[in-house]
Amino acid sequence: MKRTFTALSTTTIALLGALSGHAMAAEKLTYYCSAQEDWCQLMATGFEEETGIKVNMTRKSSGEVMAQIKAESNNPKGDIWWGGTGDPHLQAAEEGLLEPYVSPMRGELHDWAIKQAESAGDATIGIYSGALGYGYNEEVLEANNLPVPACWKDLLKPEYKGHVQMANPNSSGTAYTTLATIVQLFGEEEGFEFMKGLHKNINQYTKSGSAPIKAAARGENTIGIVFMHDAVAQAVSGFPIKVVAPCEGTGYEIGGMSIIKGARNPENAQKFYDWALQADVQTRALEVNAFQVMSNKAAESSPMAPDMDSLTLIDYDFVKYGSSDERKRLLKKWDDEVSVIPQ
Ligand code: F6P
Repeated sequence: MKRTFTALSTTTIALLGALSGHAMAAEKLTYYCSAQEDWCQLMATGFEEETGIKVNMTRKSSGEVMAQIKAESNNPKGDIWWGGTGDPHLQAAEEGLLEPYVSPMRGELHDWAIKQAESAGDATIGIYSGALGYGYNEEVLEANNLPVPACWKDLLKPEYKGHVQMANPNSSGTAYTTLATIVQLFGEEEGFEFMKGLHKNINQYTKSGSAPIKAAARGENTIGIVFMHDAVAQAVSGFPIKVVAPCEGTGYEIGGMSIIKGARNPENAQKFYDWALQADVQTRALEVNAFQVMSNKAAESSPMAPDMDSLTLIDYDFVKYGSSDERKRLLKKWDDEVSVIPQ
């Protein structure tokens, strides 16, 4: 009798242990985020509130998360990567670091979001879109007697020396989009000459893409090369920031979302994925002044958001510039030929 009880209880304890282990695993999500911090946070708390799943969030720039996922690929720690420019998501897909998934929400999305998925064997998807440009602090510009810039090539003028800031394209998706845009707009040779000329005017390469316009808002920088929606966010917050759509035309991003291959909580990652594609969830971006164009056709947009239809956009080649070889090649060339030039 006693023996039976002991045997039973051991089995029961083992079973309970396994069950509670499973239940605990089912209650977690490790979430890497590459959009703006407050939006990342809003998504984390929104998902936690809706599902009770505990979200463990890290915010890093797009290129940094890509590098982290690669470094962790033998022992993946992340479940979902939400936000950040599409190019490094595409590169991660090509390198086999992501898990393909077709969400039942796909039918509600714009074609450009689905196209991104189709080009990557369903290992990533578009969640928002936004055009590149720059912003300047009009008070700092005036105080320094500087002309008002309107084009990319204006940024090469010697009088802007020390007044322009952008992020490092290795860490930042914004800055990689800038490099790829300039190469597509002017051709590779002229594009790199442009980047070298620009380098002379750069006061700092930041890690995060939106940092240059935040510095401009604080009066610590004059011109920041950023996505236009990040400049609008500063203007809407009351800072003297003017937004420029460069006269030559410009590139744009398709922000990505991907499930990490070998995710420890794959079901929760899929739950987050489906939830994040809902129109009402995407509309919540407006609560934190995130003015990207959302991928769900029914998501609301703000009248303050940059109007993509009125801009001259290049036909950004996401397949080429999101490919592993091309991204690595361009970054190496920038490291070797641009970043090393004495200023
Ligand atoms: O701040 C928001 C945002 O501009 C997104 O639109 C974009 O995907 C992301 O930041 C890129 O950030 P980073 O340049 O730091 O990789």
